Amino acid sequence: MPATIGMGGRWGDEGKGKLTDALAGKAGMVVRANGGANAGHTVETNQGVFKLHLVPSGILNPSCVCVVGSGVVIDLAKLLREMDDLESRDISLANLRIAERAHVVMPYHPQLDRLEEEIRADDEIGTTRTGNGPAYSDKVARRGIRLADLMDPATLRRKVESTVKEKNALLAGVYGEAPIDSDALIASLQAAGERLRPHVVPAEVVVQDALAEGNDVILECAQGAMLDVDYGTYPFVTSSSPTAAGACQGAGVAPLQVRRVLGVYKAYSTRVGSGPLPTELHNDAGHIIRERGREYGTTTGRPRRTGWFDAVAARHIARLNGVSDIALTLLDVLDTFEEIDVCVGYRIGDRVIDYMPARDDELARVEPVYETVPGWLADTTSARTAADLPAGARAYIRFLEERVGAPVSLVGVGPSREQLVQLMPGML
Ligand code: GDP
Ligand code: IMO
Ligand code: MG
Repeated sequence: MPATIGMGGRWGDEGKGKLTDALAGKAGMVVRANGGANAGHTVETNQGVFKLHLVPSGILNPSCVCVVGSGVVIDLAKLLREMDDLESRDISLANLRIAERAHVVMPYHPQLDRLEEEIRADDEIGTTRTGNGPAYSDKVARRGIRLADLMDPATLRRKVESTVKEKNALLAGVYGEAPIDSDALIASLQAAGERLRPHVVPAEVVVQDALAEGNDVILECAQGAMLDVDYGTYPFVTSSSPTAAGACQGAGVAPLQVRRVLGVYKAYSTRVGSGPLPTELHNDAGHIIRERGREYGTTTGRPRRTGWFDAVAARHIARLNGVSDIALTLLDVLDTFEEIDVCVGYRIGDRVIDYMPARDDELARVEPVYETVPGWLADTTSARTAADLPAGARAYIRFLEERVGAPVSLVGVGPSREQLVQLMPGML
């Protein structure tokens, strides 16, 4: 059975957690592919609300094997806390696997994340300060510590002592911070490693075996593809690749093993942190979207910036990632609008373009070109089939399909597990 990728269509928080949970009901395995504790994935079931940061969103389905993939960076204390929280709510972790190739977010990474942001001052990226960027930087610079290193005390000591020397030169020498005590650090890493040992596996082997045995495997991305380090709004991006290609790399799955790329898109736009959001609203409509959509960060609690659906960004992502179908989430948030705007082009001076410019100066000057469509002024939260959706909502979905260039197969009409409408081709 080939794999399915579930990826965020724009700036994150599109409802990937809920969608992964829904797909996991029928899948044998979910592999989290990228990111770290910067992610916050919400799943609402009759057991309550779960906010997952590192554990894959399939964990609430008892038969699903959940793998924290090689492409993830792991804050050990946060992972252990999340595991304890889940167990205290009677969620079994028997099926949790953790890639030995995954890198560790060391205690100095969140510290460096904060220090780097403070130095950027007005140019700050608005990171989650979880150490995600510094951890990926160290991975690429080939001085990262991996879960595998925690499994052997001699290797761990050798690597930590070498990296701490360099980090102390930076922290104490450049930033004037207290130096790291490597013995205490090694002891705490070892203790965390021992707790995680029963879960640590060669994930790429486990994933490939699951595919070979005919299991449906879901690749769960964190963040959204507009935060991709290559094709997002650089430098206001995350430090991994929340894309279909990145999902393959992070999960240990080959491109030709993928059958479906499900792009999870909000029915409007949001973003947390700094950087361009061409359709951003600073008016009542933006406020209504924030309050109706409960648009406050799952990880940091920051209010999310809100705006109308940006079909230029959405199409850019759909094309680059080969999005086969769309999960359109939070449609219910738009239930009260008489009219809804959709951005169909970017005006820069006297030109109108339909692609994402790479130049900062151009992105900063982009004025959205809107098409206005009628709203439906009806409650969609109890819709469960295409026929339950108001005609105006169906017309809005068709309009987005045309503009983005991919069919909508799932529609989110509320936060809970069952508030999902499945669409078949031609149903609208
Ligand atoms: P993720 O990071 O992509 O998993 O998304 P988050 O969990 O950070 O943010 C999505 C928020 O929207 C969460 O609070 C979800 O419970 C909620 N949500 C997901 N789908 C829907 C939907 O269709 N309608 C509404 N009203 N809320 C939704
Ligand atoms: P999920 O998986 C929304 C944003 C941060 C910041 C930028 C860089 O829940 O969709 P980082 O800490 O990654 O170095 O911050 O990326 N960001 C997210 N925004 N959802 C996320 O994850 C995000 N993860 C990072 O706000 O703008
Ligand atoms: Mg989130």
